[in-house]
Amino acid sequence: MIPFSKRAINIDAGFRCTLECPGCARTKFTRKGKKIPGKDLTIDQFDKLTDYFKRVSFCGTWSDPIFNKNLIEFLKICKEKNISTEISNAASHKPVQWYEEAFKANKDVWWHFGIDGLPEESHKHRKNQDGVKLFDMMLTAKYLGLNVIWQYIVFDYNEDHIEEAIKIAKMHKLKINLIESTRDFIPDSGIEPVELDYEDKTGQIGWKKMSDEPRPKSGFTPKCIMSDRDVSFSSTGHITPCCWTNISYEEKHLEKLFSEKLHINNNNSVQEILDSKEWKNFFNKLRNDSIDTLPETCVEYCNHGLNHNKESKRISL
Ligand SMILES: C[S@@+](CC[C@H](N)C(=O)[O-])C[C@H]1O[C@@H](n2cnc3c(N)ncnc32)[C@H](O)[C@@H]1O
Ligand code: SF4
Ligand code: SF4
Repeated sequence: MIPFSKRAINIDAGFRCTLECPGCARTKFTRKGKKIPGKDLTIDQFDKLTDYFKRVSFCGTWSDPIFNKNLIEFLKICKEKNISTEISNAASHKPVQWYEEAFKANKDVWWHFGIDGLPEESHKHRKNQDGVKLFDMMLTAKYLGLNVIWQYIVFDYNEDHIEEAIKIAKMHKLKINLIESTRDFIPDSGIEPVELDYEDKTGQIGWKKMSDEPRPKSGFTPKCIMSDRDVSFSSTGHITPCCWTNISYEEKHLEKLFSEKLHINNNNSVQEILDSKEWKNFFNKLRNDSIDTLPETCVEYCNHGLNHNKESKRISL
């Protein structure tokens, strides 16, 4: 098993977002009248995380990292501690000056901007987004010397604009990553995910396509044990084995991972949490117990082969 210290940690830096993307766990939660749990990540907590993990992704599962008031401070800490850092941002509700300060705080950070289509149409999926402003922020980052990635999820409204987007990306020397939507949508979103129908002959475009085959039932293959899948940090203040368990904090079988004892504030270090009997028991259960006694989340996400993506090429960071 790949040691956790060699993996990246995917952090939900808070519980807020101003967008309502129809496939996002937060939109599904809030539509049911449920409150997104947790609080903002604090400096003390982040210090503990970065004493252990050397790769950090401010992506998360139901928040946008720009809403954590400490984000710029976190970026400075990453610079001081030489932490490899990525941010995924799609919400656009921060002033231009804030972006400039954030970019200048650490120019080694890779920023991924979720702009799905041409800037003026991205809001069709990224509901409430000002795509034109966010695109400008992406250009600002680029011209300040940062590495940026334009993440373009394909939908019916933007599939015919891929060539144009690539032309714009080339003009500004931006990396572009075309991906198929991986989520079930809430029904009234008014847009449809589509298959990515684009062949990259340049070798410069990143893309991710999902298999149209039904998921093979090849037995239980826990990705947290059998691959280098990122560990997660939940807005509840807990480390979790993956981002799927991150949002399943209500599930009975997972409740020990979300106990007060394993809360980061109640431990001096990440190692202390990973050494706890609750954390170790969780992995022993995945290894040894019969599938009908495992957490539903694990059965849902890991009861099939490891490589479900038919084709994918990650642009090299
Ligand atoms: C919950 S978001 C958090 C980060 C940030 N708020 C954002 O949206 O980029 C986590 C990741 O899910 C991606 N995502 C959102 N909707 C998606 C969809 N329908 N299909 C695939 N990925 C999606 C986002 O682009 C982001 O990379
Ligand atoms: S911007 Fe990110 S966190 Fe916000 S609703 Fe969209 S996918 Fe979810
Ligand atoms: S869903 Fe469960 S088994 Fe799969 S990676 Fe996450 S914790 Fe491991």
